[in-house]
Amino acid sequence: MQTQLSSIKLAEIETELLVVLAVDTQTAKGPDAKPELKLLTADAAVQAAAAAVLSSGETKGGSNETVLLHAPAGLQAKRLLILGLGKQAKATVHAVRNAAGAAVRYTKPRGIRELVFALPELASLPLAGCARAAVEGALVGDFDPDTYRSDRKDQSVKSFVVAAPAGADQAAVEASFAEGMIVGESQNFARALVNEPGNKLTPTILGQRAALMAAEVGLGWEVHSTEKLHELKMGAFWSVSQGSEEPPSLIVLRYEPEGVTDGPVLGLVGKGITFDSGGISLKPGDNMEKMKYDMAGGAAMLGAMRAIALLKPRVRVVAVVCAAENMPDGKAQKPGDVQTAMSGKTIEIINTDAEGRLVLADGLTYAKQLGATHLIDAATLTGACVVALGMINAGAFANDDAIYAKFDGALATSGEKFWRLPLGDEYAELIKSEIGDIKNTGGRWGGASTAAEFLKVFADETPWIHLDIAGLAWVEDSKPYIAKGPSGVAVRSVLEWVRSY
Ligand code: BES
Ligand code: MN
Ligand code: ZN
Repeated sequence: MQTQLSSIKLAEIETELLVVLAVDTQTAKGPDAKPELKLLTADAAVQAAAAAVLSSGETKGGSNETVLLHAPAGLQAKRLLILGLGKQAKATVHAVRNAAGAAVRYTKPRGIRELVFALPELASLPLAGCARAAVEGALVGDFDPDTYRSDRKDQSVKSFVVAAPAGADQAAVEASFAEGMIVGESQNFARALVNEPGNKLTPTILGQRAALMAAEVGLGWEVHSTEKLHELKMGAFWSVSQGSEEPPSLIVLRYEPEGVTDGPVLGLVGKGITFDSGGISLKPGDNMEKMKYDMAGGAAMLGAMRAIALLKPRVRVVAVVCAAENMPDGKAQKPGDVQTAMSGKTIEIINTDAEGRLVLADGLTYAKQLGATHLIDAATLTGACVVALGMINAGAFANDDAIYAKFDGALATSGEKFWRLPLGDEYAELIKSEIGDIKNTGGRWGGASTAAEFLKVFADETPWIHLDIAGLAWVEDSKPYIAKGPSGVAVRSVLEWVRSY
């Protein structure tokens, strides 16, 4: 998809499809309160072309609601799409991001290959922020997961033009637009990885894809395997890998901006289970195919690193992705086994399906050894988190309020939904082991928190955030602005968190 910024007057733009946003300004409630639509453009010709359909009541301007006009009078565009943002009071930059995605997804099945998206003219919506969000949303909307269909029809949009109104701060809008491309493409980079099935994306191949990307954007990189795990005494990470024919990958990416020699080093740690069968504690067959997305946390960190390399914040970052396949085998670890983690802590394995926390334990320890002063991890870690928050919010945990405040601030820009969940000594109690230091499950209740407590043992005194994205990494029902499939969640939030330093 080609993207471009234009400042041509809307009425004069020649295009297959001109998209203009509308809000409902009605604030009264009750049966007589009819929607009052306002088109978010000052262009008189567009206003005139849309007037009849707007007053017809055929569209209520609801969120992502569409009405299409062919051959709109007085415009050079062949079609005019009026796209609802919902109530004016709820019209945010995040709604604009989704609207751009919905516009792109509107065109795809209709064979329209190019469109112009008019930035909304509304005092409460900053134009530069909208430009960034629009490109992000368009790129995200353009992604479809049907990579391996032999009759794959390439419905990809060829050209997405963002039209900025006259009087916009061109330089600011342009810079923001360029950012949006980097962020959207990085999110799609992560989604493409998550979409790959386990046979096409083994830990080794994930390592190769990470290395290729790193070389392309100028990150330092190393990819290690079995020997290095043994050398570093990564007994927790290795215990997951030992039951698979596929060797593990320990992926390390480094971002070291020139001239930055002090200050924090941010450590990004990702769970990269390329397939999670459960191991000897085998999962039931229903939906097991979904467990190819168990590397979504790792992919999110790789996507964030890609964006970091291109956006160049003035802070050092190191990423560690622990990739392995969790399989049952004669050599697989067994419930009851005791493993020694890189940190020296001993772990009693209660359930081999609680493997994510094992690879992350050593990933967190290693990130600290590589100099990380602040940690963030992302993982499709627990079904319990999905039970708690549904597919609406992802879970977030932190051992330090200051680091969490930074993350919370990042969410305002990313627009992603995370909800902070509790840690606490009572949860830590539940993972004490009789035979060793800790066990890898804490029983039936509070599973997201006991998993987080397990990780906290390895983050130890270092300020740390844990993101449990099990419920959001895969979009179960397609939405107007995003296809069913990998979401790329956490890329944008981790990136903004990094940029806040
Ligand atoms: N990868 C799963 C968690 C998961 C569940 C991700 C649903 C995405 C959707 C994880 O490795 C796992 O199996 N967790 C277990 C932990 C349990 C054995 C303590 C779970 O949540 O059931
Ligand atoms: Mn598992
Ligand atoms: Zn897993």
